[in-house]
Amino acid sequence: MTHSTEQLTGQARAEAVNNIFDRIAHRYDLMNRVMTFGMDRGWRRFVIQQAQLPRGGKLLDIATGTGDIAFEGHAQVPDLLAVGADFVPRMMLVGRERPQGRYIRWTTADALNLPYADQSFDAVTQGFLLRNVIDIPRALSEQFRVVKAGGRVVSLDTTPPSDNVLRPFVVFYMTKIIPLIGQVLTGQRDAYSYLPNSSIGFKSADVLAMMMRDAGFVDVQYRKFNFGTIAIHWGTRPK
Ligand SMILES: C[S@@+](CC[C@H](N)C(=O)[O-])C[C@H]1O[C@@H](n2cnc3c(N)ncnc32)[C@H](O)[C@@H]1O
Repeated sequence: MTHSTEQLTGQARAEAVNNIFDRIAHRYDLMNRVMTFGMDRGWRRFVIQQAQLPRGGKLLDIATGTGDIAFEGHAQVPDLLAVGADFVPRMMLVGRERPQGRYIRWTTADALNLPYADQSFDAVTQGFLLRNVIDIPRALSEQFRVVKAGGRVVSLDTTPPSDNVLRPFVVFYMTKIIPLIGQVLTGQRDAYSYLPNSSIGFKSADVLAMMMRDAGFVDVQYRKFNFGTIAIHWGTRPK
């Protein structure tokens, strides 16, 4: 019997996630723009604003993929050193080819074992990582370890759609339309079935905020976007 990615656990799930992003890397950016109607750019801008990076600071964008959040950091913060890290080299190869690609320091790394010294970054950002990792507390504790005291960690991810009058429409768009667009644009329908299925089954924004507090972050807050289907969380490593 074959299992879909969101039903897998442990290393098997990590490998399946790695395989998905390896297969869709070449169409990842196009797919993002189309399925979010271009709104994803605004979310990434907000992520960098919340990271509160100092001029000349050092950013780790973990699960950088094709680098959109790292690029936004470069655009917003003068003299930023932006490290983009991911466990799928093919995603980063696509980003490296983009015009801003030369401004990013690309590194292959697993979010569960960051190859960086304690307190080496002014801020850590991530887009659509936590839903994909097999151990969220471990990912958060690694980020806590590498961010400087007083620095922020910011997470952008999908969040289960709210239980309101819009929910049936949102769920229809996520479970029927997104896989269809994914099939047409990437030929990888399963990858774009994993996205809605893992989103609907993901932690609520309140639970994720609690997990950030459990990891040691203070002043944890979040804001929702896109009819309540996207949540951006941020928290600070205490001084
Ligand atoms: C949906 S993409 C997001 C890319 C980018 N952050 C963005 O906002 O567009 C998710 C990325 O997370 C990466 N990823 C998933 N699990 C990871 C892990 N354990 N360590 C490092 N990267 C991981 C995938 O390879 C993929 O590039």
